[in-house]
Amino acid sequence: GDSDYLAGQTWVITAGPTREPMDPVRFISNHSSGKMGFAIARAAQQAGAKVYLICGPVQLATPAGVERIDVETAIDMQTQALQLALKTDVFVACAAVADYRVAQVAEQKIKKSSQQLQLLLEKNPDIVASVAALDNAPFTVGFAAETENVETYAQQKLQRKNLQMICANNVSTPGHGFNSDTNALSLYWRGGNLKLPLTSKQELARQLVQHIASVLKECPQP
Ligand code: PMT
Repeated sequence: GDSDYLAGQTWVITAGPTREPMDPVRFISNHSSGKMGFAIARAAQQAGAKVYLICGPVQLATPAGVERIDVETAIDMQTQALQLALKTDVFVACAAVADYRVAQVAEQKIKKSSQQLQLLLEKNPDIVASVAALDNAPFTVGFAAETENVETYAQQKLQRKNLQMICANNVSTPGHGFNSDTNALSLYWRGGNLKLPLTSKQELARQLVQHIASVLKECPQP
């Protein structure tokens, strides 16, 4: 691998969408393919880390040497994340977690009848914020998928969720973000910022993992 500079470290990555059921045959979700998170998992494993990859429903092969945990809903993802967070050095939240779930999942298929149908949604827990709030929290890295005011919104998420770093992508630009094979990121942490220009998600992940490792080295977690 990449000289094994992460040997001895454990990393946990979340990837892909979550799926929030409406009834036995329907769900609410989003366009995350899992490619970005899987690329980060592969890059961290190749740099020598022990890697756990918690992923929602995606159509991707597990990177060699990575331990994969499949989940469906945001609540399931949080349960797995909080368990693994206790034994990890770095937690990277690349998943596109559904912000809301259907408040009452119908036990039977919802029948088509009236012209309009109202679904009541309930807020999901914020997984990355709950990890960052743990005693002895790992070095916690979030993503920010934005369509406008990218820098301002990303900086607000960094502060509000109490993260060590945030990786912002402008998901309204073609070739960036959801489901493409390429992406670009703007990284913000307390000590500075760095732009990683458009390239393949795998190359971007390699640069991101190196950068996280160097910031972690400068300001190790208590
Ligand atoms: O999967 P791909 O197709 O490769 O696409 C990659 C990506 C665009 C999904 C990825 O690069 C990305 O931006 N992931 C974060 C998507 C997102 O949900 O962003 P957000 O700005 O809504 O959330 C901010 C952060 O909070 C994220 O780290 C997210 O994982 C986390 N979060 C959000 C909501 C929630 N309930 N719990 C969370 O942990």
